Amino acid sequence: MSDEKTGAPVLRAHAEEAFAGELAALAARDDRPRPPGWRLSPWAVADYLLGARLPDGTVVTPKYVGPRRIVEVAVSTLATDRALLLLGVPGTAKTWVSEHLAAAISGDSTLLVQGTAGTAEEAVRYGWNYAQLLANGPSRAALVPSPVLRAMADGKIARVEELTRMPSDVQDSLITVLSEKTLPIPELSGETQAVRGFNLIATANDRDRGVHEISSALRRRFNTVVLPLPATLDDEVEIVSRRVGQLGRALELPELPGGAQEIRRVVTVFRELRDGLTIDGRTKVRTPTGTLSTAEAISVVTSGLALAAHFGDGVLRPADVATGVLGAVVRDRTTDQAVWREYLEGVLRDRDDWQDFYRAARELSD
Ligand SMILES: Nc1ncnc2c1ncn2[C@@H]1O[C@H](COP(=O)(O)OP(=O)(O)OP(=O)(O)O)[C@@H](O)[C@H]1O
Ligand SMILES: [Mg+2]
Repeated sequence: MSDEKTGAPVLRAHAEEAFAGELAALAARDDRPRPPGWRLSPWAVADYLLGARLPDGTVVTPKYVGPRRIVEVAVSTLATDRALLLLGVPGTAKTWVSEHLAAAISGDSTLLVQGTAGTAEEAVRYGWNYAQLLANGPSRAALVPSPVLRAMADGKIARVEELTRMPSDVQDSLITVLSEKTLPIPELSGETQAVRGFNLIATANDRDRGVHEISSALRRRFNTVVLPLPATLDDEVEIVSRRVGQLGRALELPELPGGAQEIRRVVTVFRELRDGLTIDGRTKVRTPTGTLSTAEAISVVTSGLALAAHFGDGVLRPADVATGVLGAVVRDRTTDQAVWREYLEGVLRDRDDWQDFYRAARELSD
């Protein structure tokens, strides 16, 4: 994948480019009904997200690891007149799922508004090219459409990231769009009506609840789907291994022996500290202040691989991941430091097959 203008390889391809082959293979054999404006049937979209093997032998890789029902509800919501709100704690793949849904349904995941405290209404509605506006007055040519307006005009999926970080009045400017499927443009005495195929996926973080609560009027326009944390250790290990593999290939890191064992350890530490209980259910542990999400486990292992590849001996060793684990766990110097020590000495020290990891972590904490 390369940049349109310079031809330079891009750092991260959009889902519809990265998985163009899978999407084309799914479309070719998709004989189920497609909602108006959709590139694939809901069934094929779910297969794209969850993975499948097609009759022609094409392997569709799983993007989302989790209950099939969740994906089915999300996809079928988008085929109705209600928008989709993906809710969950950090790192539960809300952004990831939203990107892949847009890629599979519209072939375009780029119509994206990033919600922040500074997001203005123009980012959700439209703005003006002031040079044009001053020269020729308000006209369609002077109008700068937001990603939402473009999605409406083209019949595609718009994405709003971190909905609840946007000020409430900006959030509420979506109400007319979602209920009337039109965006009035009073300056032109006109409107843009949504073309079939338009819908919207918003994501919101559970932890932000209360920052800018979604108004009940807006919430009624959404179906909410909560993305859970990975149910089991094995699920989470699979997610991390898969993503680390993809990221490593994209960064052209070599595949290193030792990877599987260290991934399992990182995930184990994260889950035990997150749950406040060891995997065997026997020992209670204290929970640190930070969120130890799957996404963080992925970045800890990826950083470890880079360390091992460039400065190590070609094997992923406990020391390569221990720094990252410590950084993720100890956010607050005083309380987290104590939590980590307790866990290290109370749990990890006594695990026979963890001695190398224990020593590596111990050295860092001293
Ligand atoms: N259940 C899962 N299946 C597949 N990948 C997952 C899963 N959970 C997490 N991931 C991976 O975690 C990474 C981070 O996910 P993402 O950024 O989408 O999280 P998020 O829920 O949007 O987090 P935040 O609330 O911080 O924005 C992605 O690379 C994704 O592949
Ligand atoms: Mg996100």
